[in-house]
Amino acid sequence: MENTPVDIPLEASPHGARYTRTAIALHWLLAIAILYQLGLGVWMEGIPKTPPGLRAEWFNWHKSMGMVFGLLIVMRGIWRLTHRPPELPESLPRWQTWAASANHTLMYACMLAMPLSGFLGSSFTAYPIKFFGTPLPRLWEASADMKVVLGTVHTACSYAFMLAIAVHILAAVWHGLRRHGVLQRMLP
Ligand code: HEM
Ligand code: HEM
Repeated sequence: MENTPVDIPLEASPHGARYTRTAIALHWLLAIAILYQLGLGVWMEGIPKTPPGLRAEWFNWHKSMGMVFGLLIVMRGIWRLTHRPPELPESLPRWQTWAASANHTLMYACMLAMPLSGFLGSSFTAYPIKFFGTPLPRLWEASADMKVVLGTVHTACSYAFMLAIAVHILAAVWHGLRRHGVLQRMLP
């Protein structure tokens, strides 16, 4: 069958292999989704608790969207594990190749940790998680301690994620300005 684990470049850029169309589509779809979800999470924390209703509505929206993005992330993860990305240009210093790979790994870890910790943390509250209005079955008894632990993981990971994304975007823009052929590999 044609389904080999190697990512075949669609076309060669002047600097070498590009990401495939699927990789580019998954990258940008999730980049927009994650930036939206991070912004939403920080913003909704500032909604006043009284009068009740508005805050809960936005929290429920964040949870539903987070679960959808979680599924997309799992799909991207499976796709990534079965497809090798193109090598970085050989002209780049070794430390940059290493730093890029370490930061990508950190971002993939955060991508998984965010929906997982959000879902598990919410599953320990006294209220059922609602998926676009439909209450999901309760998995276990409510636990204030577990909710605090997983809530702390969710918040801590969101800070690590924001830092990793900031480094990632700065590096991508820097490579773009220096015309190293790295940014072009991920542009449609
Ligand atoms: C890609 C997925 C997700 C991202 C990037 C994300 C991001 C965030 C961010 C940035 C915050 C604010 C953190 C803070 O200031 O404390 C937050 C809070 C929260 N998120 Fe998520 N989230 C995701 C998925 C989920 C999911 C799937 C759920 C639940 C099903 C969820 C439930 C919550 C809750 C309940 C809070 C409020 C936490 C608290 O006040 O203790 N999140 N999220
Ligand atoms: C939430 C936002 C973002 C996340 C989570 C993210 C995540 C990732 C990940 C995990 C990879 C590695 C893909 C792989 O080889 O498996 C990657 C590659 C890449 N991203 Fe992003 N990205 C984000 C936003 C952006 C933005 C805004 C830009 C451009 C300014 C960008 C430019 C690139 C480029 C050029 C590559 C290819 C790097 C290389 O060839 O090694 N990303 N991104």
